Amino acid sequence: MTYLFYNQDCISGAQEHLADNSVDLIITDPPYGISGDKLDKHYNRNESFVIDGYVEIPQAEYAEFSMNWIKQAERVLKPGGALYVVSGYTNLIDILNALRETSLKEVNHIIWKYNFGVYTKTKYISSHYHILYYVKPKAKHTFNTFARYADHERSDKGGSANYEDREDVWVINREYKPGQVKNKNELPTALLTKMIQYSSQEGDMVCDFFLGSFSTAKVAKGLNRKAVGFEISQNAFDHQLQEINALEVGYLQDTIRRPPENQYFNQGKPIEDDERAAIAKDFQALIDKGSTKKKAIDALSQQYGRGYWSILRVVDGTTNKSANPNNSTNQGDLF
Ligand SMILES: C[S@@+](CC[C@H](N)C(=O)[O-])C[C@H]1O[C@@H](n2cnc3c(N)ncnc32)[C@H](O)[C@@H]1O
Repeated sequence: MTYLFYNQDCISGAQEHLADNSVDLIITDPPYGISGDKLDKHYNRNESFVIDGYVEIPQAEYAEFSMNWIKQAERVLKPGGALYVVSGYTNLIDILNALRETSLKEVNHIIWKYNFGVYTKTKYISSHYHILYYVKPKAKHTFNTFARYADHERSDKGGSANYEDREDVWVINREYKPGQVKNKNELPTALLTKMIQYSSQEGDMVCDFFLGSFSTAKVAKGLNRKAVGFEISQNAFDHQLQEINALEVGYLQDTIRRPPENQYFNQGKPIEDDERAAIAKDFQALIDKGSTKKKAIDALSQQYGRGYWSILRVVDGTTNKSANPNNSTNQGDLF
């Protein structure tokens, strides 16, 4: 596996080291363009464990800086490759404007809700970041819909676990690491794991333009992906390079959420007329025996190895001719 890290500015570094169309996935968390001192005051923590040398970008330069690194990100991504940018609110507009100047297509604007929000008395407490998920056009992008939850799995609330995991508001706690050296704004492993599982395959190249504590690269390595990236601060770079080198490829593989085998063994196969008629007949028989519509569909879904919505469409189409089958699907736009 390839692991390449450069103690360098990401814009000149990408120009020098990364070929066009060479990276499958970029997950990155640029400096926020707010002063370091102010940032320290936001957090109730012992700053002696925070690595010295976090390099900020002056606000006045933020728009141009964002444009320059995002152009590089666009260039190095493979067609179909994905870019996730984690951003606070302060300079979000500059990042959005820069993204609009590229060919990259917005897929989702995700809200990441975290714990330990900055305590404020006279306004609402800020406790979210934005995650901008874009893809490079001209090839189908990787989206592993069932990488974590199978279609048939139920959440604690009784709904579809897959649906809930793919909603665009993510509640993921920051990691509390008392007494450990860290970078400011270190991203949690669970957050990075989620993006990597949905948007890449094992062996893919994952890039981070702003490595910080190398959290993206560490999780990529832990999940059998290759990694490349840049960090301008020598202090952070030297410390974290040693840490990542000590990690084994695949060290996170046993910790991640994987789906059990998909119960919907016929999912994706066209439903022929015979099967359609059989489903309709069995549905009517269950209703005649006193079953509710939902229970009957659940039972048929297991029997025929098809998702709830597929069975519902058949049932509505055959038992209620006036139903608009498009109204009965709510699987979400798979893009
Ligand atoms: C928000 S932090 C990244 C945090 C990282 N995602 C983590 O989980 O630890 C931004 C990082 O970008 C670095 N940085 C600032 N300007 C840079 C540049 N031009 N090229 C590369 N890295 C830069 C900062 O020193 C800082 O470590």
